[in-house]
Amino acid sequence: MKELAIKYSRYKDTRRLSEAQRALLAEARKALRKSYSPYSGFKVGAAVELANGKVLSGANFENASYPLCLCAERVALAAAAAQYPGVPVVRMALTVSGGSKAQTQPVAPCGACRQVILEVQYKQKQPMELILRGEKGEILVIPNGGDLLPFGFSGDFL
Ligand code: THU
Repeated sequence: MKELAIKYSRYKDTRRLSEAQRALLAEARKALRKSYSPYSGFKVGAAVELANGKVLSGANFENASYPLCLCAERVALAAAAAQYPGVPVVRMALTVSGGSKAQTQPVAPCGACRQVILEVQYKQKQPMELILRGEKGEILVIPNGGDLLPFGFSGDFL
């Protein structure tokens, strides 16, 4: 039997984050204000830092036809693709607010967003660091976002 391991760091608070990581998490928190989430009441904010130093953010955008809801991660990544096509995404920070309880665990990107993160990495040929936090509490830093989708589907299969 083989075993897979992934690299990540877990921090109690923002003190040991780099300046860039802390700033991006603050941008993700600001992006919560952009959330359009009248159906779930669950706000998700995402911020991306690009290789050219630009920072963009996005939030979840829901729809009365529920399956059409857009996740914050994909809104932020689409904004980056639209405004700076071809510029690698170095890191993405993610946070939440407004759930049924104060979210103290780092938020987990959904499966569809993991697939999109994998695609972005495939395209840019470099990993995207993920910085995940709930409303407060611990922070997870995952140097290679693609690690969240082991055995994922990619263009290599086509
Ligand atoms: N959501 C995100 O924005 N990102 C995720 O990774 C998980 C879920 C949003 C979608 C929906 O608007 C709300 O959270 C509740 O599922």
